[in-house]
Amino acid sequence: MTRRRRRRSATRVRWFATLLAATALAGAVSVPAEPPARSAAGAQAELVAPPAEPAPGPALASPPDTAALLGAMAALVGQAAEPARLAAWAEKIDGGAASLDGYLDEIIGAERFAAEVVPALVFAAFVNVRNYYALPVAFTLKHPADPDGPLYLRAPCSADEAIAVRPWWNLRAEVKVCPDSYRPDKWTLSPGEHSYRTAMALSCDSQVGSPELETSSLCGCGPNLIRCVRDEDQYNEFNKSFMDEVKRTTAYVVEHDLAIASLFTSNATFRDRNTELYYRRQKIGTLEIQRVEHELADLDAWPQAGKWAPREEIAPGQHAGVLTAPQLLHWLPDRRQRQRGYYEMMWCNLRNSFGATTHKVLELNASGNNFFVHDSWQRLAHTELCMNCHARLDYGSQFFLGFPDSRAGTHYDPALQASGTGPLYGRDLRDLRGQAPLTPQGFAHLATAQPDFNSCMASHFVNYVLGDRATGDDVHAIEATVAQDGTFKAAMKVALERYAQHWRDDARAPAPAVAAVVDAQPGPGGGMKVSRALRVQLDGHCLDCHDEAPYSADPDAADLPFSFKPDELPRRLLVSMADHVAFGMMPKNEPLDPPVRDAIVDLLIDALWTAPSERSEARRYYLGRARGLPAHQVDNELHAIDRIAGASSNIAWGALERGIWSDQSTVTPGFVALSGLEALRACAHAVQTRGGSLESCLLQATAPSVWSRRPPAITAAPARSQGALQSKPLE
Ligand code: HEC
Ligand code: HEC
Repeated sequence: MTRRRRRRSATRVRWFATLLAATALAGAVSVPAEPPARSAAGAQAELVAPPAEPAPGPALASPPDTAALLGAMAALVGQAAEPARLAAWAEKIDGGAASLDGYLDEIIGAERFAAEVVPALVFAAFVNVRNYYALPVAFTLKHPADPDGPLYLRAPCSADEAIAVRPWWNLRAEVKVCPDSYRPDKWTLSPGEHSYRTAMALSCDSQVGSPELETSSLCGCGPNLIRCVRDEDQYNEFNKSFMDEVKRTTAYVVEHDLAIASLFTSNATFRDRNTELYYRRQKIGTLEIQRVEHELADLDAWPQAGKWAPREEIAPGQHAGVLTAPQLLHWLPDRRQRQRGYYEMMWCNLRNSFGATTHKVLELNASGNNFFVHDSWQRLAHTELCMNCHARLDYGSQFFLGFPDSRAGTHYDPALQASGTGPLYGRDLRDLRGQAPLTPQGFAHLATAQPDFNSCMASHFVNYVLGDRATGDDVHAIEATVAQDGTFKAAMKVALERYAQHWRDDARAPAPAVAAVVDAQPGPGGGMKVSRALRVQLDGHCLDCHDEAPYSADPDAADLPFSFKPDELPRRLLVSMADHVAFGMMPKNEPLDPPVRDAIVDLLIDALWTAPSERSEARRYYLGRARGLPAHQVDNELHAIDRIAGASSNIAWGALERGIWSDQSTVTPGFVALSGLEALRACAHAVQTRGGSLESCLLQATAPSVWSRRPPAITAAPARSQGALQSKPLE
């Protein structure tokens, strides 16, 4: 081993150790589960390096670093901008020769913003996790060891038994298949034939029609093997095409400044040849068309890469934007689940289900309310508590009855579609939102016309761009833009303008005076004294409700708003106040803007803790809110790393992070490990081909700005811009 190589690997080991240390710091691992107890035990806390999300502590005022701001905004739209380009823009903007507005218009036009960032914001797991039901995996043909032997689904057969068929993927050639894998006349499973516990009509092109779960062999690939795929590669290709349809339809809507709502209401989508074939295959299933060749005749003319085109409908209103694209339509099999997915995407709700206890559910379910088994669907929608979701879910699913449970069928069935119009509900059965034709199209028009839709779409930009630091004003401004302008780019632009404003405000803000450590000793009554500053805040924000009931430690009294009027309050109550305000539970139903919230929490910390180590621990817990730093979208981050390194790792990462909504996406140990490994590989490739220093490549590719979309409050503070990865020297 040469000296040089030895040195490099030693560096690599050290670098890994640094990465691991950073990993531990970045995640929730190092964050205390409890606020610090009032003891001297916190002395060590000072030694622990950067908090998860650094508290907005004493910021050093600094001149606005325009290039860094522009770079951070470029990263949000998915661009890894060249430093020279950023510097040039910054110089022009600072000198008055260009406007921030012009810069924003340019970066919002970035291809990755339309094709990657927005789809991940709006659809998260629905677009980035592969679909299971659209294309039943057990319809993947198997090839025998003998390359000329017949293809089969279940078990091989002899060449004499096999049948020659022209497969849909190459109608000019013949392949041999086993007879049980063909069955060109079989389309449905009749009730007496199968042993599934359901009253639903079952079709051959579904999971239950495939060999996956069958107890007896009933269906095959159908005419020209239309229900099957040639092999695993083709199966994977189709699944990618399904995801691409949603991504590229979104990209088309973004790029062409179409209304956000049209993503859900338009008949047209952007799809490649595979997905177009899938729609034709659905039609073949619906109409039981034997002449497959005729249906597919002009498919060769479809651009392989795809185009924006309308979809044929068997009944009017059958299609509703991406809602009826296979990737979303069949992402969740059961109709209620599917509907839950639609509301999650369109209204950002139903991400949890508190209140529906197992007991309650079982009690009502004793008689069975499982859609797959029974169809007495109205009951839940009319039961108190359950109606909070089921009015919306169960009436909503009436619009999609033509599309069966995805386990039972993967094509539209006009006989199942409801007729006439039906209601759409919001919160519960008392919150009627209107009536519409009972078709997917009817649903999409009504659902996108609701305020819930606008605020959901706005929230993606609020959460992604501004995160935790968004003020009520920011939210209103972005919501107003969505309501008035109705395009993705406009919403993003306002969010970025606000981002820039925060950045500049933070940079300009005077450093707060080092907080005087107030006398946090117990008062004469044994409670904690309320400082004058805290008194002002409590009077202003809490006393409306907290002005009567005297404090009681009795847990039964906990549903009363205790009075905050006394000059001395029990320590326990003050700790509870810090909890409730820091984590947004109080003031009840009236969230405070982040700066006000932080100011009140700061005063409560002053009142509760005096030792510097305890105070810093408390600030880290309450002001850092025990959260990791907000992470960049993982694919953008990987893209940025490769761009910075000038090479790629050539690894296709399977990352759970792709399925996370932006408000929950934080830098976790796994995220940092993945980033580190990508950087290590990409930089190693780069150094191999171009030479240069591995260390400096790694330093750039793992800079905090690459992996975290930190809120401006933090980015702007130079003292903190040294991230975990850079805080330790490599040599
Ligand atoms: C916060 C929303 C929410 C509330 C409240 C709620 N549910 Fe549900 N429920 C759902 C969703 C969503 C589904 C669809 C299935 C899924 O996503 O797993 C569902 C499905 C069901 C199912 C069908 C299960 C199956 O196997 O198909 C039953 C039964 C049910 N809920 C009962 C109840 C009862 C009883 C209540 C009231 C005590 C209730 N739910 C309240 C959201 C809710
Ligand atoms: C709009 C009325 C309202 C306002 C304003 C309000 N609260 Fe409350 N608060 C309540 C109610 C009601 C409860 C009782 C529990 C519940 O319903 O959540 C409560 C409970 C609490 C509790 C729980 C007490 C315990 O430990 O059991 C704390 C702490 C609290 N509030 C702090 C605050 C603080 C601090 C403010 C001001 C920054 C504030 N609240 C403003 C209505 C309000």
